[in-house]
Amino acid sequence: MKKNSSSAKFITLEGGEGAGKSTSRDFIVSLLSDHSIPFVHTREPGGTPIGETLRELLLSKKGVPPSVTTELLLVFAARAQHLHETIEPALAEGKWVLCDRFTDATYAYQGYGRGFDLNAISTLEDLVQNGRQPDLTVLLDIDPVVGMERARLRAELDRFEEEELAFFERVRAGYLSRASKDSRFEVVDASQNVTAVQADLAAILQPLLEGGG
Ligand code: TMP
Repeated sequence: MKKNSSSAKFITLEGGEGAGKSTSRDFIVSLLSDHSIPFVHTREPGGTPIGETLRELLLSKKGVPPSVTTELLLVFAARAQHLHETIEPALAEGKWVLCDRFTDATYAYQGYGRGFDLNAISTLEDLVQNGRQPDLTVLLDIDPVVGMERARLRAELDRFEEEELAFFERVRAGYLSRASKDSRFEVVDASQNVTAVQADLAAILQPLLEGGG
């Protein structure tokens, strides 16, 4: 696995729809700021001008939807640019990177959700990431029934959010399966109240923050 030249950490935040990703992200941002840690906060798909354009295409409900293969290649195209333009330069400068979704989302949504071959995703991952992996992945886990209820109240649904419940059940199972196999994951019960979720996040981040600053 590719190592950072400095102590800078690459942290990713994952979860199903309505898991409270934005609130948790804001809390982690405040933790990093409180510890005077230089960081970049970014997201996928997106994080660069090219990536944000691809995000619009991916989330849009206009016209004929992309095929599963097109969708997969678009998320990896956005990721390739994101690594090139944002993530790798930041880590090289010693800045931490907090990224709202990364390749685990591809396994969960395109792999488990849409049924795309996981080995093909792994091949693209190797090609695009050249060994780069997050140091820590926080998975906000929530029952999709509860999550979709929250997402519906929040704003107009995008193309992914309009999927059926069974899709989100598969996405959740995919995330949990990956989390059970890799120690970089920390799973947070996102059905708890905000205070409890934040207490969990603070405890998870604490060991990294102590070595960080
Ligand atoms: P969000 O990050 O604002 O929740 O929305 C991004 C959407 O894109 C979300 O529904 C998950 C989806 N997505 C994928 O399907 N594959 C990916 O690789 C990534 C990063 C996101």
